[in-house]
Amino acid sequence: MPCDSKSRISELKNNLGRQVTLSGWLYQARSSGKVQFLIIRDGTGLCQCVVEKGKVPDELFEQLRHLGQESSLTITGSVREEQRSVGGYELAVTDAKIISPATDYPITPKSHGVDFLLKNRHLHLRSQRQWCIGKIRHTLIDAIRRFFNDNGFTLIDTPIFTAIAAEGEQTLFEADYFGTPMHLTQTGQLHLEAAAMSFGRVYCFGPTFRAEKSKTRRHLTEFWMVEPEVAFIDLDGLLELAENFVSFIVAEVLRENKGRLETLGADIAALEKIKPPFYRLTYTEAADILTSQKTQDFLAQELQELQNQKQQIENKISELENKSASGGLKQWQKDKIAAELIELRTALSETDTKIENNPKHAKLAAEFTWGKDLGGSDETIISQMHDKPVFVTHYPKQAKAFYMKTDRDETKVVLNFDLLAPAGFGEIIGGSVREDDYELLVKRIKEQGLDMKNYEWYLDLRKYGSVPHGGFGLGVERTVAWLTGEQHIRQCIAFPRMMDKVYI
Ligand code: 4AD
Ligand code: MG
Repeated sequence: MPCDSKSRISELKNNLGRQVTLSGWLYQARSSGKVQFLIIRDGTGLCQCVVEKGKVPDELFEQLRHLGQESSLTITGSVREEQRSVGGYELAVTDAKIISPATDYPITPKSHGVDFLLKNRHLHLRSQRQWCIGKIRHTLIDAIRRFFNDNGFTLIDTPIFTAIAAEGEQTLFEADYFGTPMHLTQTGQLHLEAAAMSFGRVYCFGPTFRAEKSKTRRHLTEFWMVEPEVAFIDLDGLLELAENFVSFIVAEVLRENKGRLETLGADIAALEKIKPPFYRLTYTEAADILTSQKTQDFLAQELQELQNQKQQIENKISELENKSASGGLKQWQKDKIAAELIELRTALSETDTKIENNPKHAKLAAEFTWGKDLGGSDETIISQMHDKPVFVTHYPKQAKAFYMKTDRDETKVVLNFDLLAPAGFGEIIGGSVREDDYELLVKRIKEQGLDMKNYEWYLDLRKYGSVPHGGFGLGVERTVAWLTGEQHIRQCIAFPRMMDKVYI
């Protein structure tokens, strides 16, 4: 029988009936006397390996029986189809070699609190959830690059150390650059505008930094953003670009990750609906929605649904607790129940938070006044009321960045947009047409009290062949959260940086 010594779990389907050797780690194990079921992971997937007494040497059978979670090993056997097995294939084991045994791996199938898992992110990355999210993030980033590369955009790498601020000076991380004060970039946009005047269509893609004193589930201090910038474009052109872009990346993520999205419990049917055109609202229309009776009714109904949901979770918890207390369960069954209980309790506490926030959000919406930026809860409400992404355009000038172009027909607003993901996930894109008039831009810089000398080169772009231009930025972690259904964006990057937490 041919033997492939470098087989990978993702390739098992091509090796039916063959003898293969997998290299990986022990993910889970259960034993019923004469048969052991070892779940192995190798970075490409999971595979159940069945070890029967008598089919391997007795000494090896005993070694495997005592092997700890996350021990590394190679394992050899023949591949067979097994619908009930994870991945649909399993290995009938004939041999194994332990590479490095692990004992007392700290993350067991029983559940752990969020803080514990964050402190152990270097190990928790090996969990199925983190692995699925990491793979989805990878395909998302690949799709993002492909979209721009295939649509005539040139990649420009913008600097991380800069003197110029774009998104408000109160959110800058300062750096001492050989005695000159500098900061870590909040956006590549301003440099990208210079590049757009050379290449026409450009994009940058890198880490960005915000010293926002914000501990919400939507904020990181270091996050990844992709920013396209286009010369000769207006607001309608930007919206069209953004909806084609988002539809493309969602379709690509779906195409390559159905199984992983299912594992994560993502709403695949909802993602399949993400096609142009998206909804379009002006800020003023959004403000009217927020203060309407319709919104109050919507939130009252949501509260009712949340209370029902809470009741269902509580029932499920007591059912499992009774089952667990009734005795006669095998260890693996107890572990499974313990893990389910942890998930249910997390869901319960999330539901409780939503129930607690609902009346606060209703009050904030009712009291919304024209001129304020939309807050997180306002975005959530608008986004929950729609089944596809929503563009909100034409925000009040006073609430937005200096570089946004004043609407020449309605000078109280700017030609900008935010794109809100549906189902309550909120803003994933912020963008605008840029002010291209020299005098108006100088006025905006002065109004915001920014140091004019840092902006001289930026103003040059309005002196030498200024053109209408614009672009936007999409946050990778927020997009991953939306696609995977993760409630907190800290789960959507391998090593998250948050205001109050940087563990490893
Ligand atoms: O809306 P923002 O601040 O826009 C800009 O930075 C523009 N200069 C982009 C441009 O026009 N080229 O940020 C854009 C996106 C947000 O919609 C959000 O997805 C993400 O970046 N983002 C964050 N993600 C995680 N943590 C934070 N603290 C974020 N701040 C913004
Ligand atoms: Mg924004």
